[in-house]
Amino acid sequence: MIFARRTTPSPARAARLLGLGAYLPPRTVSNAELSSRLDTTDEWIRTRIGIAERHIADPVTATSDLAAEAGLRAMKSARVEHVDAVVLATATPDHHVPGTAPLVAHRLGLRQIPAFDLGAGCSGFVYATTVAAGLIHAGTAGSVLVIGAEKMSAVIDPADRQTAPIFGDGAGAVVLTAGRADEPGVLGPAAWGSDGEHADAIHIPAGGSRCPSRTVDDAKNQYVHMKGNEVFRHAVRHITRVTQEAAAAAGWRLQDVDRVIVHQANARISAAVAHTLGIPPECLPSNIAHVGNTSAASIPLLLSHSAIDGQLKAGQRVVVTSFGAGFTWAATTLLWPTGLQALV
Ligand code: UT7
Repeated sequence: MIFARRTTPSPARAARLLGLGAYLPPRTVSNAELSSRLDTTDEWIRTRIGIAERHIADPVTATSDLAAEAGLRAMKSARVEHVDAVVLATATPDHHVPGTAPLVAHRLGLRQIPAFDLGAGCSGFVYATTVAAGLIHAGTAGSVLVIGAEKMSAVIDPADRQTAPIFGDGAGAVVLTAGRADEPGVLGPAAWGSDGEHADAIHIPAGGSRCPSRTVDDAKNQYVHMKGNEVFRHAVRHITRVTQEAAAAAGWRLQDVDRVIVHQANARISAAVAHTLGIPPECLPSNIAHVGNTSAASIPLLLSHSAIDGQLKAGQRVVVTSFGAGFTWAATTLLWPTGLQALV
């Protein structure tokens, strides 16, 4: 008779945060500068959105340039020279074809590895970490560089006061590696979803297969159009709910959460989320005043800045949560690891 050998079940293979980095293009545009060419004021932008300035890339810089800088910093932070895959979350790729991730992998000297773009608007980075965690969990990859990078200034109408004050350029990245499910730094289960009924709430009407650029008379159709009020209402509702779901999936009560890293869309959205969840506003770090809304780059930029200014400390229970065009939403959790040094 053959007996099956009994083994002690090992904790599941999970994705652990090993490195963190971010990059902002050097030029800042203040509200005063915007107000000099747009029908708006510094006071309106500060009180209605919470932004004082945003970083804007120069005309020759593309999303891949921002992404490669952030990716390099995350790999240095992780002290690795190789990863098994690159996932790049962006709504502003260098080109429709090819994807931007292979170019970024090439720039980083990561030859022949799988590299692909992921588009989920401002939720793109949390979507991408969820996909990367799945690759690691399945054993398809041992480590993944996940980047969120945007050159929003390439798709924002400088004459539109609904969008021009809000968006900025930048990039952030993490290295995820295989770890045990019970280790600090390991990503918890994701809560995520989408609702395409609101596809036109944040969209660029032209430039895709529905309306190719060559058929467009009005250049404005190649810029982002946003129904601000509608997006605001849905953002508060979905961020609140998906934050609750991710915390519950991790087995945490909301009162035990130390930090909520919320997509930086509007300071009033974050305040409403904190109020609805009953979480003190000081548990929601923010950098929107100085970077604006950087779409898929927002979360890794905020993680990096919060780690550097001491808002994120080892052992804290952290929920990361986002909402954006699609609509899409996504959240996950982690215990902040020891010894992680973000590079910005
Ligand atoms: O990252 C993806 C997700 N994006 C978001 O989450 C963005 C969500 N939406 C928002 O953040 C806000 O809706 C906006 C910041 C876009 C707009 O703020 P709001 O408080 O919803 O303003 P509103 O559109 O209701 O407009 C209020 C007033 C209007 O004037 P009246 O009709 O009351 O006289 C607007 O014309 O503010 C006026 N207004 C402005 N005034 C000065 C709108 N934009 C501006 C502006 N400067 N830039």
